[in-house]
Amino acid sequence: MNIILLGPPGAGKGTLSNKILENKNAVQISTGDLFRYNLSNKTPLGLKAKEYMDKGELVPDQVTIDLLWDKFDSLETKENDEKIILFDGFPRTISQGQALDDGMKERNQKIDMVIYFDVSDEILIQRLTGRRTCPECGATYHLVNNPPKKEGICDKCGSELIQRVDDSIETVKNRIEVYNNQTSVLIDYYSKKGILKSIDGTKKPDEVYKEFENKLGEIN
Ligand code: AP5
Repeated sequence: MNIILLGPPGAGKGTLSNKILENKNAVQISTGDLFRYNLSNKTPLGLKAKEYMDKGELVPDQVTIDLLWDKFDSLETKENDEKIILFDGFPRTISQGQALDDGMKERNQKIDMVIYFDVSDEILIQRLTGRRTCPECGATYHLVNNPPKKEGICDKCGSELIQRVDDSIETVKNRIEVYNNQTSVLIDYYSKKGILKSIDGTKKPDEVYKEFENKLGEIN
């Protein structure tokens, strides 16, 4: 089953992904994580992506689409069809959405559901500027909403937490603007296809997960 998590930066896509991965037979494809992984390994792709990410701009479509299919096809060879494949942060433009439709057709697959997170800009800014992440295991925290047990240290693996470069206030504001200008059109795109399900992203993470399970029940 192929599910897209669609929403503005800080809406909780990564947080919900982690809960689904803990509780279900699922795998996540996060284009943001793939770019960051490339960057930490200093690959040409990672260094090119950094130019855009640090400013809160989108990485060019073709680079992102190629990366997506590389990852997707590597999963397909190993995973069986029972798995939920989560598209976290992809697509982000109409052109990426169309490339996803075409590529799915070529592979005799389809997108089964798009989960759209509804969250106000004010909450997004508060969440992103307070976010801290673990560079080792990917766990996400928030200084106020979800602090680690020991300040600055990951509960799960003991590594030192960091603040993402693109979580500064100026870059966050630009990311939200980029989302409004280039990504939010996908809400209508998937709504017209009849596969869009909205969830209230302002609820607590466990409640958001419950809503996700309800939506999943509706299509099973
Ligand atoms: P990416 O890494 O995908 O970032 P994003 O979409 O901006 O999303 P975030 O990871 O910031 O937010 P999230 O929704 O996952 O929220 P989270 O769960 O962490 O992309 C980064 C960059 O890469 C882009 O700007 C672009 O340059 C590039 N890129 C990536 N994909 C691309 C593509 N397809 N095309 C082109 N370029 C691309 O939560 C945020 C915070 O809120 C955390 O602190 C968390 O603890 C807290 N929180 C989460 N849920 C809740 C809740 N329910 N209640 C209270 N707090 C919560």
